Amino acid sequence: MSVTEKNETLSVISERHAVKKYEKGFVLPEADLNAILTAASEAPSSWNLQHWRFLVIESEADKAKLLPIAYGQTQVVDSSVTIAVLGDLEANRNTFIYDQAVEAGALPAEVRDALVGQINGAYQSPQIARDEAIRNASFASQNIMLAARSLGYDTCPMGGYNPQQLIEAFNIPARFVPTLLITVGKAAEPARPSGRFPLSEVVVKGSF
Ligand SMILES: Cc1cc2nc3c(=O)[nH]c(=O)nc-3n(C[C@H](O)[C@H](O)[C@H](O)COP(=O)(O)O)c2cc1C
Repeated sequence: MSVTEKNETLSVISERHAVKKYEKGFVLPEADLNAILTAASEAPSSWNLQHWRFLVIESEADKAKLLPIAYGQTQVVDSSVTIAVLGDLEANRNTFIYDQAVEAGALPAEVRDALVGQINGAYQSPQIARDEAIRNASFASQNIMLAARSLGYDTCPMGGYNPQQLIEAFNIPARFVPTLLITVGKAAEPARPSGRFPLSEVVVKGSF
């Protein structure tokens, strides 16, 4: 088997692990948080509808409110911030993103109108709206974790929380579905070792 040498991107991917112990009290510089959130918003999305909102939970009071919602997982109080990645169930309302391109002459108005019709048609299905919200928000989540690692921070993705309680505690509008909590901070202890299945078990070439 040939071994490809890891470049910086591949190294960051390999170094990302779910860190649960953080340096308590470490304040994430605003510029770094913004770089991480910018990377999140640079994720790809279906029709470029950018199906995400990032709820940043960083005050001590909000962290304390989050702790029972996250079933007592202490990384939400020990890390610098927790980002709740929300998916947009009404992302078909974001088609105004095309208007600038139309005005700049980069996109014919008929193409924009056809796209908008196609999108609104698809969004008649609540299942599609939900699938799209979760699928696309997940790309933003991965960007958060990789961007944070590339800046020397660590993260823990968390599905272990009560979404209804999160919605109520942080006034999340019905338009948005919580997809994932991600803690971000300075690691105090490395993540527990985690194995991966070999490619021979997870890759199917051609067809099953
Ligand atoms: C969708 C999702 C939900 C997760 N939920 C939790 C969680 O609630 N608490 C936790 O400590 N880790 C959680 N994890 C982290 C996983 O346990 C971890 O990613 C996995 O064991 C692989 O370890 P590694 O990321 O350190 O390589 C979650 C990961 C994902 C992707």
